Amino acid sequence: MEISSKQATEEELQSYYKELEQYNVAPLWTAMADIQGKEPASKVTPYVWPWKDIRPQAIRASELVGTEQAERRVLRLMNPGLGGRTATTQTLFGGIQTVLPGEISPAHRHTPAALRFIIESDGGYTAVGGERFPMLPGDLVLTPPWAWHDHGNDTKNPMIWLDGLDLPLVNFLEISFHDQYSEPTHPITESPGTSLAKYGSMALQPTWTERKDEGSSPLMYYPWSRTREALERLAMGEDGSLYDGMLMEYTNPATGGHVMPTIACFIQMLRPGERTKSHRHTTSAVYHVVEGKGHTLVGDTKLDWESKDTFCLPGWAFHEHVNESSTEPAFLFSYTDTPILEALGFMRDEVKP
Ligand SMILES: [Fe+2]
Ligand SMILES: [Fe+2]
Repeated sequence: MEISSKQATEEELQSYYKELEQYNVAPLWTAMADIQGKEPASKVTPYVWPWKDIRPQAIRASELVGTEQAERRVLRLMNPGLGGRTATTQTLFGGIQTVLPGEISPAHRHTPAALRFIIESDGGYTAVGGERFPMLPGDLVLTPPWAWHDHGNDTKNPMIWLDGLDLPLVNFLEISFHDQYSEPTHPITESPGTSLAKYGSMALQPTWTERKDEGSSPLMYYPWSRTREALERLAMGEDGSLYDGMLMEYTNPATGGHVMPTIACFIQMLRPGERTKSHRHTTSAVYHVVEGKGHTLVGDTKLDWESKDTFCLPGWAFHEHVNESSTEPAFLFSYTDTPILEALGFMRDEVKP
């Protein structure tokens, strides 16, 4: 039988599409615009979670739910454009975790990579891989994939921090594994400050341990005092990036690369009155305002932010940052999916014409 293509009527087509459903197949040509647009149109909504709204809810959560009940008392930052997915951008998750005085978040490990950026605390700790790391405001603590970790608050005030994870990616790939430790805390085998002395002392590194790429940084603690000092020192003599101001990456000292296989972490300082030039990139980001007041323009959306707010940036959206203060610097912490996109060859960026 000879087959030739004809122009079917709309009615014929609709009935054909209907018929296809029983076989679990569907035409590609009716979905082309969704599947293969000229360029990405992210479903992620540029959005700010203001600290003035979120903090009271985090405290309320700690009044209503115990850490033993919750395991982790976290409020998920749900992107309004992602239809209820546990996701802040397509690949990244942000959460606000609260630990009350005397509480311990029990030891566990999991395949998702996690970071903690401390918002409010008088001390307390995260224990990871056998060492206890302090958690003071502005500190960054990593808990790389499959590393045992627990958190404890031995102070008199609540500790609140931003959790950053690659959960949306891990869940999409269906590769989430989770292990509970038999005790509330895992054994401490290192004395305090070991990791920082080994891997965070300028470029000094121990000779008796093998320098190999474990995928994640062997340094798991980046104290705010040093981070801030580096930025302020550099700002005296450097102009920084046109698009990001003084933007520095937290790196893995063993490789010079990103801190974890799926997440890169950055800190940036916008000088008083600084306004960056607009650009866009395929990577998405979650930002946290360490200090300062300003806004970020994402396309036509103006995201106003101030100290301790968290906001997100979709991939491939033009954006520029503005420090609205004429006297004080602004500091933004951010984490991105750069390592994933780099590994897959999907990095692309563009300056706004
Ligand atoms: Fe965890
Ligand atoms: Fe950017």
